[in-house]
Parts: sequence; structure tokens; C-alpha cells
Amino acid sequence: MSQNEKIIGSESQRALIKMYSAYVNKYKASFFKDVRLDIVQGERSRLHIKMLEGRKKGEAPLDLIDCRTSGGVFNLGHGHPEIIKTLKKGIDAGLDIGDHHVISEQRALLAKELAELLPGDISKTQYCVGGGEAIDLAIKLARGITKRKKIISAEGGYHGVTGFALGAGDPKFKDTFLWNLPDFQQVPFGDIESIKKVINNDVACVIMETIQATGGIKIPSEGYFATIREICDDMGVIMIADEVQTGLGRTGAMWAIHGGLYETEKVVPDIIVLAKGMSAGYYPMATCSYKPFIEEVFKDDPFLHISTTGGSELGCYVTRKMLKIISQQKFLNHVKEMGILFGKGLNELMEKYSDLVVDVRGRGLMWGVEFINEIYGQFFTLNMIKSGVFADYCGNDKATNKLMPPLIIEPEDVNEIMSRLDKALSLFPKKK
Ligand SMILES: Cc1ncc(COP(=O)(O)O)c(C=O)c1O
Repeated sequence: MSQNEKIIGSESQRALIKMYSAYVNKYKASFFKDVRLDIVQGERSRLHIKMLEGRKKGEAPLDLIDCRTSGGVFNLGHGHPEIIKTLKKGIDAGLDIGDHHVISEQRALLAKELAELLPGDISKTQYCVGGGEAIDLAIKLARGITKRKKIISAEGGYHGVTGFALGAGDPKFKDTFLWNLPDFQQVPFGDIESIKKVINNDVACVIMETIQATGGIKIPSEGYFATIREICDDMGVIMIADEVQTGLGRTGAMWAIHGGLYETEKVVPDIIVLAKGMSAGYYPMATCSYKPFIEEVFKDDPFLHISTTGGSELGCYVTRKMLKIISQQKFLNHVKEMGILFGKGLNELMEKYSDLVVDVRGRGLMWGVEFINEIYGQFFTLNMIKSGVFADYCGNDKATNKLMPPLIIEPEDVNEIMSRLDKALSLFPKKK
């Protein structure tokens, strides 16, 4: 490797797309070609992602404001100076993945610091590589502790593509793999009566996202999760909150389930699953945190769930820094304030384009913009990209586009995003 080797832009965009198609996934490559998004991500910094080249010959590369953040991976934006400094410091100190079987300084420190932030007595943490694995573990723990098999989840919910996580999701993700497991049952999200109908002594857990992200930023009404908590307590059922997208300050509170959805509704589930933002954008990191009584599952064999690269020591060191930044009350207040501005801006746009937009809803800096139908929803994603905003429609509700900017945005960034969204909305043909 030469000293001047280019890491970003080492080949032309065209060559890289061809290579991706040949060696990664040709169907994905052709999907992006069809929607005219056959472009490659290049340099990125703070809120911005720049493409390597323009979409057409001679066109300038798109410079997009990241309102996708991969569902909250980039809560601190791209290239946060303190995170980079911490990453380099960790490497210089000799940290690596560490041996997953042995006792680890960084894993112990991060778990302790996380326990201090998690609600109630949730204080035990097992590390995983990604959200799917952490959800799998949560469901395994629920089954292990209750000795029951049935899992209740919500229609439209998304928990990942691994075994149990896939089982708890929508049919479209599992049918191809013949994965319609008999013990997994979905109920309509937000409807407490439907849970009452299916809950019984065979149920191990109820697992839900606090706000459905892939499902279209669906927000249940006040009291929904508090009632689920009561039902779970009555029936000896484990309550699992999937806070993979909603946790870590996204709603303006540390946890959506604990004051982020409704300020006065502070529910303590038995298990909280985190991923995405735990990585601080740099290192795969996911956690399954639970109440101490659940630890009993590991009594006879503490090696029942192991993850070789889950909880990398270098990653833990970086995650600790990320947690320190986002858990400050000042930071959370900032998210709340920016969320109010963001919501105000979106509501004004809804008023201006009332023939296109039927609803905007959100909490903190997690927002959904719902269009009159799925076609408009999908086209809006393209319009946004043309107008300089990187965000996309929700996989399980294509009429709704999800906007999750980095939590570090400032008022001038919100104004810029709103003006680009205004432009994106204006690209739809005027109705006669
Ligand atoms: C709410 C939620 N849970 C779980 C997952 C799975 O996480 P991962 O992709 O890291 O396996 C996702 C991923 O998008 C998610 O949005």
C-alpha cells in the first residue's frame, strides 16, 4: 500500500457499482439503478454525506444532510471529534476486541455506567454484535426464565433478521425462509384489548418497539405500555422494550419507554435492547440489559450465550464516551428543543402541502411524514435526495418517510433541512 493511497474514492463510482453488483448483491445494485440512486457514499462530516461523483456524467456529487442516520447509528453525526479522539486513544492504549470468554475491564465499566442510566433495577448487560442478536438473546432469556414458549409482538414491528428476532417480525421478512414459527403471535400495535385476548400462561414475553420505526413512526397512546406492564406483572410475562432506534436520547429522554414517549409515563420493562447508536457510528455494538432476577438463566451454564465479536473492548471504550456525551441533561434538553423546532417546521410544511401530506408525528428528533399514499411516499424519498436530504420511507409503511437527523443539529441546521424539504415537496406536480 502506498502512503498516498486513496481510501475514499479509490476507484470510479461506476467501477465500484459494477464491483458491488458482481461481488455483493446484484439485485440491490439494480434496485438502486432503477430508482436512479446508483451512487456511492464518499466523504462525510458532521451532518453531511457527500457522494463520490454525480449521478450523471458532469453532474456535481450530491451533498446530502443525513436525516437517516441509519436509524440512529449516527446520533452524534459523522466524525464527532471526541469520538474519534477516544477511538485513537483506545487503539494507542492497545485495546482490541479482547477475548469474549474472559473477564474484561471495558465490558465491566460500560455495563456499570449503562446500569446507572437504565431505568429501575435493569442492571445486567450482555454484549452482542447487532440488534438482531441482542433481540434473540432477550427472547431466549424470556423463555429461559419463564420456561414458556409463546412470544407476543406487534404487527408492523421490526426487530432484525436473525432467528427469534425474525420470528417476531412481519411475514414479508420470514416467508421466504419458511420461518412462520407457531409460538410467535403478532397483535395490532397500540391495541391493548388484542393483547388481553392472547395473553395466557403459555406466554414468555411481550416484545415491542416503543415507537414503531420501520412500521411508520407509530406512536401508541398514553397508558399503552403502562397497561402492558401491569398485564405482564399479573401473568408472570417478561416485558421487552426494543429501544434500538428510540433509545439513547433520540426522544429527548434517555429512554422512550421511560419518559420519552410521555413525560409522566415512566415504564420499567424487564429487558431493554440497544444497538445502532451504541456503536457511536464506528464499532458494532449492541446490548441486552435485564433485571437481576433474569440472570438465573445462566446459573447452570454461564456460557449459554456467547458472542465472539460482541462487546469489543475497543468498542466498549468508545461507547462509554458516547454515553457520557448523550446522557448529560444539557444534551437531552438540546434534543428536546431541536425536536420542537423540527416538529414545528414539519407541521408548517404539512399545512403548506396539505394536498400531499396527511400527518406528521414524532418525539424528540424522530419524525414521520405521512403522504396520501405509498406512491407519493416513495417518490418523496427520491425528491428529498434530489433536494439534499438523505432519508427514506419506512419499510413497513411506504406512505411514511422517517426523519431522524443527528442529535447534534443546531437551529440553523433545522432551518436548512426544512428549506430543503420544502423544495422536495415542491417537486411534486401541481394538482389541477
Ligand atoms: C427497532 C429495531 N430493532 C432491531 C433491529 C435490528 O438491528 P440490527 O440491524 O443491528 O440487527 C433494528 C434494525 O433496523 C431495528 O430498527
